[in-house]
Amino acid sequence: MNNVIETIKNRRSIRRFTEEQIQDTHLNAILEAGIFAPTGHNDQPWHFTVIQSKDMLNYISTKTKEFMAKSEEEWISAMGKSERLHLFYNAPTVIIVSGRENSYSPLIDCSAATENMAIAAESLNIGSVWVGLVNHFFEHKEEVSKLNIPEGYVPYYALCIGYKNMSKPVKTPERKRDVINYIK
Ligand SMILES: Cc1cc2nc3c(=O)[nH]c(=O)nc-3n(C[C@H](O)[C@H](O)[C@H](O)COP(=O)(O)O)c2cc1C
Repeated sequence: MNNVIETIKNRRSIRRFTEEQIQDTHLNAILEAGIFAPTGHNDQPWHFTVIQSKDMLNYISTKTKEFMAKSEEEWISAMGKSERLHLFYNAPTVIIVSGRENSYSPLIDCSAATENMAIAAESLNIGSVWVGLVNHFFEHKEEVSKLNIPEGYVPYYALCIGYKNMSKPVKTPERKRDVINYIK
């Protein structure tokens, strides 16, 4: 096995972070890994909004949970009402990934970039978790306007990053193995 494959397999969604902010050099290396992802038509149709303001992160978490609490889907509404949940698990840095609407495959490209960033973070022993539930916030234009995302880009999801705060490793969710067929 080599380091890259080991890093890919070691990456887990981390949901407990220390309060310490990550170093700028690490943040830049993670963002750089994102922009080196492949893209359809080489469009590179992404924009990254780095949020490190605790007030802003708490605001988004609170608002998103308010919206989730009103959902007709029971599990979403239950999560929205949970007092314990912080949408970003109090991560010190959150990267919002947005895609350019009029490009070839923005959602796919942004997903590739997000995974690149999660793996790069793991390689630096920085924890990450991909948060899709923030879409409940993104459904509200007046809220999205607070993020200064450039015109023509739509926010898809968030990647939370920070130093891991765990006494024991996160258990790897069982992987489905029966998902490959071969034609030789
Ligand atoms: C598109 C997407 C959306 C996700 N949204 C959330 C989320 O809102 N909150 C959360 O805690 N984890 C979220 N996750 C993380 C998954 O729960 C996690 O990747 C999965 O359970 C497998 O665990 P692992 O990442 O440790 O391998 C999301 C992952 C993806 C790819």
